[in-house]
Amino acid sequence: MQPEAKPTLLLTRRLPENVMARARRAYTLVGPEPADLPWPRERLVAALAEACPEAVICAPGDVFDGAAIAAMPRSLRILATFSAGTDHIDLDAAKARGLVVTNTPDVLTEATAELTLALILAAARRLGEGERLVRAGGWQGWTPTQLLGLRVSGKRLGILGMGRIGRALARMARGLRMEVHYHNRRRLDPALEEGAVFHGEAESMLSAIDILALTAPGSDALRHWLNAERIALLPRGAVVVNTGRGSLVDDEALIAALRSGHVAFAGLDVYDGEPALHPGYLALSNVVLLPHLGSATVETRDAMGFRALDNLDAFFAALDPPDRVA
Ligand code: DGY
Repeated sequence: MQPEAKPTLLLTRRLPENVMARARRAYTLVGPEPADLPWPRERLVAALAEACPEAVICAPGDVFDGAAIAAMPRSLRILATFSAGTDHIDLDAAKARGLVVTNTPDVLTEATAELTLALILAAARRLGEGERLVRAGGWQGWTPTQLLGLRVSGKRLGILGMGRIGRALARMARGLRMEVHYHNRRRLDPALEEGAVFHGEAESMLSAIDILALTAPGSDALRHWLNAERIALLPRGAVVVNTGRGSLVDDEALIAALRSGHVAFAGLDVYDGEPALHPGYLALSNVVLLPHLGSATVETRDAMGFRALDNLDAFFAALDPPDRVA
């Protein structure tokens, strides 16, 4: 008897070796050698049209907009993204075409919350400036007034997006005796709130906090949520951190506030239109800039890949993929 053929899978990106090994065992990999960086949209469409895979694992930065999805070969049945975020995929277009889409929630929660806390500390305690000073050979010794930042312990933290990552951040922040506030569309169950103060209106939260963390996913409804009007409601000297999506922030408004000191410090891991970022940030010393490292740990990236493969395995076993989003 012939062994059953393995389903065909195209990887748009090179994944961690443990994930690649499991993918090779269970699937027949087709298409060009996966790359670290996203292929341009035309190359992505051409690679799929040529390889005609049944499944694709993609990642943030790969553009699966309506036109790209319309151009997908009929062979393609499932698109598993190696990410929690799905803003690079037109989910409505996928649904309309009957393409199953899955993501990788849960497994990156702690790593992304950790990085958000790290950015809060790095921004408020001026770690980037300190590091640059030492590396440039400019440090002449301890002084009573050098690089004074803001203490984070005991401060009031506001979270936009109290989902899994926001709640994990809140738990970590409580270890620093921070008072946690949040704004969501809906109030959480008190068991999930764990004492955090809910604000039905963003405006009331902004005037009640010292540090703002954006952990919400990107969406049209939240585009440029942090604009000049909302920044003006923060107390002077506030800290702003974004590990959600770059589109949440109106960059011109945040840059103006960082220049005037209304926002004393910021920490950014994500950018509107990344990897490009507004050049205004580069000239500012009071902003810490990271290259989208939220989920970048060995354990997390393996777990994300395994989760994407779990979804494919379920689908090809005629079961419901656990993380189906379309
Ligand atoms: C995601 O999963 O959406 C992250 O932004 C990648 O770390």
